[in-house]
Amino acid sequence: MRAPVSRPLPALFQTGPTPAIRVVQHQANRNLALLLLLLTFACITSFASAYYLFTTRWEARTIPHPWLPADTISQANVSMSADEKYLAYLPHSGFHNQRIAFENALLLAYALRRTLLVPPIRLGNKPIRYVEYDTLSQYHELSAKEGLNHCLRVPPNVSRPPECLQYFESTYLPWNWLVNITGLESQQPLVYRPNMAQAWIVKATGVEPSDVFTLRDSAPYQYRFLDNDSDYSPPQDRYSQDIYLTDLSGVQERLLQFGTLFGTSRLRLRDPNNLAYRRRIRQSMMFSNKDLLSVADSIAGSFKGPYVAIHLRTGDGRFKLTAGKTAKEVWWTLLRDVLGVPPSEKCELEQKFAEDSNNCIPDPACADATLECEPTPVSPISFLPSNIDCRLPRHQDPTYSFLNTPLYVATDISSPDTHPQLSIFRRSFPCIFFLGDFTNHLKPLDKLRSPYDQVELKPFLLPFLDALVAGKALKVVGTKGSTFSKFVGDIVWTSWHQRDPA
Ligand SMILES: *[C@@H]1O[C@H](CO)[C@@H](O)[C@H](O)[C@H]1NC(C)=O
Ligand SMILES: *[C@@H]1O[C@H](CO)[C@@H](O)[C@H](O)[C@H]1NC(C)=O
Ligand SMILES: *[C@@H]1O[C@H](CO)[C@@H](O)[C@H](O)[C@H]1NC(C)=O
Ligand SMILES: *[C@@H]1O[C@H](CO)[C@@H](O)[C@H](O)[C@H]1NC(C)=O
Repeated sequence: MRAPVSRPLPALFQTGPTPAIRVVQHQANRNLALLLLLLTFACITSFASAYYLFTTRWEARTIPHPWLPADTISQANVSMSADEKYLAYLPHSGFHNQRIAFENALLLAYALRRTLLVPPIRLGNKPIRYVEYDTLSQYHELSAKEGLNHCLRVPPNVSRPPECLQYFESTYLPWNWLVNITGLESQQPLVYRPNMAQAWIVKATGVEPSDVFTLRDSAPYQYRFLDNDSDYSPPQDRYSQDIYLTDLSGVQERLLQFGTLFGTSRLRLRDPNNLAYRRRIRQSMMFSNKDLLSVADSIAGSFKGPYVAIHLRTGDGRFKLTAGKTAKEVWWTLLRDVLGVPPSEKCELEQKFAEDSNNCIPDPACADATLECEPTPVSPISFLPSNIDCRLPRHQDPTYSFLNTPLYVATDISSPDTHPQLSIFRRSFPCIFFLGDFTNHLKPLDKLRSPYDQVELKPFLLPFLDALVAGKALKVVGTKGSTFSKFVGDIVWTSWHQRDPA
């Protein structure tokens, strides 16, 4: 068994006595520890000087955020008493990783009785990826949009100055624009950050740099937080170090600064009160923006009845490599689990509808040819009649009439109406629809701008709308391993259908 290693954590700008936080290291390695110490020292030095330069630059400026609405500025000094304690973290990656980190941060701040400094949601095609603490912190500083408000005034017939080229490729949104967290705000204080600049924290909270306790991570799955002192992470878990909330609650510094908090199992909770609060947090993550909801309603309404949906994620990383396989898997899951097709019919149907039909893998229930296929233990909906105008003529053969069920496909594939990976869906479901079929319903989104950077929101909101329309279906099948699919199934679908999230 590994032995607990006790040592004070390196903390940025730390001057006072460091509380002894037990860090249970899963692999004790002296050389690594020395190297880390050295790196930490180098990081502290470089970051401290960067920070010094940054803060002095900040103070030389007179108009901090001219493009921010007045209320986001004044928010900075609402109820900021000199002894209020704060918790901050560094978000990264796509929306759903940011959401999971936000859920974890809400719980940590609640359990530690600290005011959460809520980062803005960052939406864009080039997410800020996870890197170790110092670099991630610098990326956030560099991606801030201070001093670029003139980009908004460049007329369309003039080419954009170089500093503005990226301005419109991402946007920042306050969390309470998208979700309704007023219920949580009655339980825990939140302060919304308009940007990720450290200088904003100093200015808004008055926290001195010496009053910050920083838990600096060097790997994405490093720290895990536990709320019961006699609990510990099983050795096979992916996080390398355990940290107990009782120790964190002893931190005296006014600001407790974390790096990454993403990961659905980052918090290992045992306290029933914390577990109940986490459920409440998850329920609050359903989108509540009125414009989004009413557009989703009007699209779902144009089906003139119930429909089924899939969420197919293929866009990046590992999902892209396996996109063709994933599409077929989702197709078969839809047929078997939602429409009730017996496992024995998989290859027959695949051969009829797939373009490359020679490599069918039988359903696992039929994999052993000596056995009869086991029936699947689900109650299928089999077929939904509908009088919606379909893309293609409906199947006339009654054998295939279940495939006339209207299908909504939420996907990050561009031009899904022609993309080869979706051909098996288009060939089998004549009543197949994509978000692009409903552009006339999307008009109300044209007027939406981010309150933080005034960027047009519509292009960034389409995936959310896709999720909402899919979640309104009678049944939805997602992509395995996708946090977005899990969101559609667990949060959106359960919210529309008034079920408790898992
Ligand atoms: C914030 O502080 C400024 C100056 O100290 C003051 O003018 C302003 O009214 C304050 N805002 C709020 C909402 O208290
Ligand atoms: C851009 O358009 C505006 C009006 O639409 C016009 O006044 C201006 O001269 C144009 N500028 C250039 C560089 O074409
Ligand atoms: C937000 O949720 C609270 C209760 O949690 C509710 O009273 C309020 O009406 C909701 N606001 C909106 C805009 O939906
Ligand atoms: C921690 O867990 C143990 C065993 O499950 C339990 O007996 C104990 O009360 C818990 N401690 C706290 C502080 O919740």
